[in-house]
Amino acid sequence: MDNQLWEKVDDYLETALDGRDDVLSEVLFSSREAGLPAIQVSAMQGKFLHVLARLIGARRVLEIGALGGYSAIWLGRALPPEGKLVSLEVDARHAEVARANIDRAGLSALAEVRVGPALAALPGLVEEFGEGSFDLSFIDADKRNNPAYFRWALRLTRPGGAIVVDNVVRQGRVADPAQSGPDEAGTRQLFAEMASEPSVTAAALQTVGSKGYDGFAIAFVGIPQPSEVAS
Ligand code: SAH
Ligand code: DHB
Ligand code: MG
Repeated sequence: MDNQLWEKVDDYLETALDGRDDVLSEVLFSSREAGLPAIQVSAMQGKFLHVLARLIGARRVLEIGALGGYSAIWLGRALPPEGKLVSLEVDARHAEVARANIDRAGLSALAEVRVGPALAALPGLVEEFGEGSFDLSFIDADKRNNPAYFRWALRLTRPGGAIVVDNVVRQGRVADPAQSGPDEAGTRQLFAEMASEPSVTAAALQTVGSKGYDGFAIAFVGIPQPSEVAS
């Protein structure tokens, strides 16, 4: 697979779309300095999430998996001043870097990183914010827990909102029966849940770019379309 070409085109697109952004460059630099793995979304993927958040007029965003705050900043920038982004992160060091980066981006008034396993924090979010209180949920943490994250996101995301899941293709591993680890199983089960949930209409897109070959799933949370209601 032509990774070099994909990277070149991602660079091209970033430049062509005026993607120069000193804050985000510093965010990437500080994340690298702190020794965080460089597994954040690409610039174009981050911008895609930002555009999506604006398309749905998002005011509240839930993120699962903050790392150094890169995707959180793209999403946080899509929100109005009174908006809210809650990002769940298990690693205290990642969370610390993410907070510093969010601060650097001028978003600390609206974006918050909570440390701990996401599954421990999610029930509390239902209590604190209520069911259906988020417009957009972005799931990007440990892939084996994707089905559980999706179920919580479904409770927390309003009808008309969306749930995006990163890394659902993983160089094609998702569709390779020889790959049967917990992460692949988690993502396959995620798709099964998306398919069986009548309120959800989901699509998945394969992507190439500076992060190699992977993909996003996107689920629209809504009332079932008549054609989808079993007769
Ligand atoms: N969304 C980020 C990248 C996240 S990388 C971006 O694009 O900028 C995945 C993150 O999920 C890592 O920081 C990892 O520590 C975190 N993570 C892994 N397991 C987790 C769990 N059980 N709960 C919360 N976060 C978790
Ligand atoms: C990994 C995790 C991610 O969220 C990602 O986008 C890329 C790689 C990983 O755990 O390797
Ligand atoms: Mg990811």
